[in-house]
Amino acid sequence: MATISLLSAKGSPGVTTLTVAFTLAWSTASGGRGALAVDADPAGGDMAPGVLRGALPDDAGMLPLAAARRDVLAAEVLDAACVHLRPAGAARLLPGVPDAARAGALTLAWDRIGEARPALDHAQVDLLVDAGRVGGDPARSPWLVEADLALLLVRPTLPAVAAAHRLADGWRTPGTPTSLVPLALLVVEAPSPYRPHEVARAVGLPLQGVIPFEPVHARVHSEGAAAGRGFERSGYARAISHVAGDLAQRLGTVAAPAGAGPAGAAPAGAGPAGVGVA
Ligand SMILES: Nc1ncnc2c1ncn2[C@@H]1O[C@H](COP(=O)(O)OP(=O)(O)OP(=O)(O)O)[C@@H](O)[C@H]1O
Ligand SMILES: [Mg+2]
Repeated sequence: MATISLLSAKGSPGVTTLTVAFTLAWSTASGGRGALAVDADPAGGDMAPGVLRGALPDDAGMLPLAAARRDVLAAEVLDAACVHLRPAGAARLLPGVPDAARAGALTLAWDRIGEARPALDHAQVDLLVDAGRVGGDPARSPWLVEADLALLLVRPTLPAVAAAHRLADGWRTPGTPTSLVPLALLVVEAPSPYRPHEVARAVGLPLQGVIPFEPVHARVHSEGAAAGRGFERSGYARAISHVAGDLAQRLGTVAAPAGAGPAGAAPAGAGPAGVGVA
């Protein structure tokens, strides 16, 4: 089980949108592995009201997971707390807390996910975590400290770049828990005179990828909008597949032998068909 945590330093560059998008793309990117999108945004999760359009069972999400009886196996309570993004598919989603007042439950829920690790390993499932906007000390978020890779999303605006630079500086402070976690940059484009490589240089992080500015296509993953014609071939969808493939390669999570993936793994891609609760 690999963990990739997505975060931002300022603004709303698309952390939630791309966590969902990479989760849907993961099966193809990784050669058949499963993916679980974990909504750990302490400000309150946007996946339930967004891509799921509010349609989720009462027992789904981080709150029920945190509150589940300790004598029930973590793998069982985790299964019950997740929703499938596709019928019988390999992409699942764990909705977040409804508001910041309940963010304390995220750490308890994360502990249960950790207890379920053997089952997730066995099922060849990787975690893609929406860590939201990181305002304070990132070391207080275990899903950041324990990540195999953290992806800092940034739009090419001066305030966003300045905030990302500050976060990257603090992240790498020697002796801090985050200094051991690789941090890379994902530029989500917006109308701007600054090119992605200039942004990466200014932030001081390696550039992991670039996602083009395509608001209509992005709504498929942020709000569960229907995919229009041309979505699959859009620059947005192709960039997601490309970056997801690079991430899977980087983490060495590719190449489960054919047929060894999770039972019933759906053909994936960044495509939107069936986005929503199965
Ligand atoms: N590549 C893109 N091109 C254009 N618009 C995008 C792109 N990615 C995301 N968006 C849009 O940007 C808006 C914010 O996205 P999202 O909610 O994912 O950001 P966020 O970083 O999670 O924000 P927050 O910190 O508020 O949780 C949404 O309307 C989404 O559709
Ligand atoms: Mg968000």
